[in-house]
Amino acid sequence: MSQRTFSIIKPDAVRKGDTAAILAEISKAGFKLLAIKKIVLTKKQAEGFYYVHAERPFFGELTDFMSSGVIYPMVLEKDNAIADFRKLMGATNPAQAEEGTIRKQFASSIGENAIHGSDAEETAAFEIGYFFAGYELK
Ligand code: CMP
Repeated sequence: MSQRTFSIIKPDAVRKGDTAAILAEISKAGFKLLAIKKIVLTKKQAEGFYYVHAERPFFGELTDFMSSGVIYPMVLEKDNAIADFRKLMGATNPAQAEEGTIRKQFASSIGENAIHGSDAEETAAFEIGYFFAGYELK
């Protein structure tokens, strides 16, 4: 059944000029790009997005990084989108990511790992709502 997931092209990938190449991989894998924005988060906005990680030791580093430059948040649609997109991204740590995955090709470290993707239906709903209003998803 058709499902929505949420993704972000992160500041490292944008700075390297990999945005278009990553979007091409996503399109080739059969995802429909329902909505996309170009924005720079404030530190507070990054903290709000990643609130589930607030107690982790890397929270400061993560939210500094995610507010360090342009990002492209987007909503994608496909059958089984959440699980299929996680497969397409590869492991969080690019050193462990499979050949052909986005993180294997474009990420440089566990922190600067090029792309984010929702891990479950509830998180996808929260993450889509954090960046997009209902009227932008028609
Ligand atoms: P993401 O899928 O965006 O969700 C949480 C992020 O935290 C994750 O990708 C990583 O980029 C980041 N992260 C996870 N573990 C570490 C770590 N040990 N050091 C820095 N960042 C991390």
